[in-house]
Amino acid sequence: MIRLRERSGRSGNSLGRNDMEEALKPILERRSCRSYTDQPVSDEALYKLLRAGMAAPSAMNSQPWEFIVLRDDGIKAAVSRVGPHWGMLKTAPLGILVLANLEGYRATRKEFFVQDCSASTQNILLAAHAMGLGGVWLGLYPHEDRMEEVRRICGIPQAVIPVTLVSIGYPGQMPLPRDSFFEQKVHTNVY
Ligand SMILES: Cc1cc2nc3c(=O)[nH]c(=O)nc-3n(C[C@H](O)[C@H](O)[C@H](O)COP(=O)(O)O)c2cc1C
Repeated sequence: MIRLRERSGRSGNSLGRNDMEEALKPILERRSCRSYTDQPVSDEALYKLLRAGMAAPSAMNSQPWEFIVLRDDGIKAAVSRVGPHWGMLKTAPLGILVLANLEGYRATRKEFFVQDCSASTQNILLAAHAMGLGGVWLGLYPHEDRMEEVRRICGIPQAVIPVTLVSIGYPGQMPLPRDSFFEQKVHTNVY
């Protein structure tokens, strides 16, 4: 059994215990949301999502991410046809493409861009959930065919890599939270 050590005082952050439990909620309760209402996502909400995306950790703080905000119905519809399970993007009020621009990338191995952009993507999804929005991660990289097609539709230069796509809106239907903790997945010190 894993022993979780509770801290009695405050640690390096500024959250008390109740605030901490509140802060963990979006992480523990987030689910993929694939159905949306017609309610638009405001520019203010979009700003918060992008700010969360840019707050992610990245290798050597390289921050290789750039974003394309998808709001146009025609472009969303075209992009939604690229992946086999991307149909929900067509009816979502908002899509966000997360791209990697490796110009000046500082990390020792350029392949770290995948982890950088994935961390950014997860931040966006968690922020969305915390704001009452729902979103789903749509698999893009490393499917070359999908990347090329998205490049063509959105005018992305060859030097910029489309890594992930998220579809976001106010939830029509939202799956219930579930507990994904499995003790057998945890090893201590050695496998
Ligand atoms: C790399 C990656 C690619 C994914 N691609 C798709 C996709 O193309 N279509 C889709 O509906 N969901 C996609 N998902 C969402 C997963 O299906 C979902 O996260 C998983 O089933 C767990 O469910 P949950 O997010 O509700 O916990 C993807 C998730 C990841 C991390």
